[in-house]
Amino acid sequence: MSDFILDIEQIRKAARDQMEKGAVTANYQADRNAILKILDSALATEWICVLRYTQHAKSAQGLHAEPIARHFFEHAQQEEGHANELADRIKQLGGKPDLDPDSFRRRAHTQYTECNSLVDMIKENLIAERIAVDAYSAAIRFIGPSDPTTRRILESILAVEEEHADELADLLAAFDPRENLN
Ligand SMILES: [Fe+2]
Ligand SMILES: [Fe+2]
Repeated sequence: MSDFILDIEQIRKAARDQMEKGAVTANYQADRNAILKILDSALATEWICVLRYTQHAKSAQGLHAEPIARHFFEHAQQEEGHANELADRIKQLGGKPDLDPDSFRRRAHTQYTECNSLVDMIKENLIAERIAVDAYSAAIRFIGPSDPTTRRILESILAVEEEHADELADLLAAFDPRENLN
């Protein structure tokens, strides 16, 4: 293995010359626009999920509504946390987080769907989580070693989406369809 040699003079010069680029340095190896596009879709996806989960949490009715609504609301709060992490990363990479709700549906991978029954809500959210898991997995594979910070952020979000999907699958399995009164 060859020695690790750093041209520190060059690095110092670039750090000073391109100060306005903030966290993005000459050693940033990813395609910045491609990464920003990934982060933008993820941001819109997380907001769609915040809105869908909140709507479900606040409109759930029926015998088992309370604990399920609590799950939905907890997930909504975690999705909002994800959205904020993504927005921070977009800013660090020199982008501008786009929170225009008019374009959320177009930019997001998941859908905003209102449901009339608890079981449909669980299914709808489980589908959305599975879409998010697939989309984050593909993005992580695409990024590879090119942008370790973005990759780490997406990996930590992916782990939570997998937990969400698992919880919802458990809720669905525990759900007795005869009790699906509302
Ligand atoms: Fe999320
Ligand atoms: Fe989630």
